[in-house]
Amino acid sequence: MSRRPIVVGNWKMNKLPSEAAAYIKEVGPMLVQYEGVDTVLAGQDVLLDAMVYAARNTPICIGAENVYWEDRGAYTGETSPAALADLGIKMVIIGHSERRNYFRETDEMVNLKTLAVLRNGLMPIVAIDEAVQLESSNDHAHWIVNQVVESLKGVTEADMANVMLAYEPTAAIGSGQAMSPEIAQKSLWIIRQTVADMFNQAVADNLRILYGGSVKPTNVYDILSQPDIDGVLVGDAALDASTFIELVSLAE
Ligand code: G3P
Repeated sequence: MSRRPIVVGNWKMNKLPSEAAAYIKEVGPMLVQYEGVDTVLAGQDVLLDAMVYAARNTPICIGAENVYWEDRGAYTGETSPAALADLGIKMVIIGHSERRNYFRETDEMVNLKTLAVLRNGLMPIVAIDEAVQLESSNDHAHWIVNQVVESLKGVTEADMANVMLAYEPTAAIGSGQAMSPEIAQKSLWIIRQTVADMFNQAVADNLRILYGGSVKPTNVYDILSQPDIDGVLVGDAALDASTFIELVSLAE
C-alpha cells in the first residue's frame, strides 16, 4: 500500500487577493518538479476565484477553508458547496480547530458539511482536534475516536476514497512547537484503526491522514517519516512562497 504524500497550505485569513495570485504565480512553476507530492492551497472564500485562476496549468489544487451544508437557500453569508464545485474548487477543510473553538462548530455540523462536500464531488479534509486537557490516555483516545465516528456518519465506503482526515492538536497550532512526531503517530494510528473498525482495513490502508500544528522545514521530514502520517496541514509556514516550496521538496 502506498499513499501519496500531500502538503496542504492553509492560509487562514492572512492573504489579500492580489497577494494570493502573486504567490501562486511564483510557486506554481516551481512545483512541477515535485511530481511525487500532491499540493493544495486553501484560502478564505474571497480569494478563491483569483486562486483558481492563478493555479490553471500548475499542479496546485485549490481548497476552501469552510463551507455550509446546504447547496442553495436563504442562508445569508454562507458558502454553498455546489458553488465551490462550480468554481473549480477540489477540496474543503472541514471542522478546523479554529472553526470548532471560535465558531462553535459541533461534530454534527462537521458531519453535515462532510456529507454536503462529498455530495458535490469535492474532497473533504476533516480536521480532528484535541481541544481539551485530557486526564488519561483513555480519555485522549475516546476524544479522537468520537470525533472520527461522528464526523464520518453516513459516509459510504466508496466515498472514503475521496476523504482525508487531519489531526491537529490545538496546543501545537501556531505555537511554533509541533507535537513530537512519535506522539502524533500514536494519535494517527488511533484514527486509522477507528476507520478500519467503521469500514474495513482496505479503506483504512488507503486513507490519507495529515498532521497539522507548527509544521516547518526543520520538522517536516521527521513528521512525514511516521508510518501513519501521509501529509501535513500547514498554517504559518505556508504563508511564505519559498518556505512552501521547501516543504514540498522535503515531502517528496
Ligand atoms: O491548518 C493548519 C494549522 O492549523 C496549523 O497552523 O500555523 O501551526 O502551521 P500552524
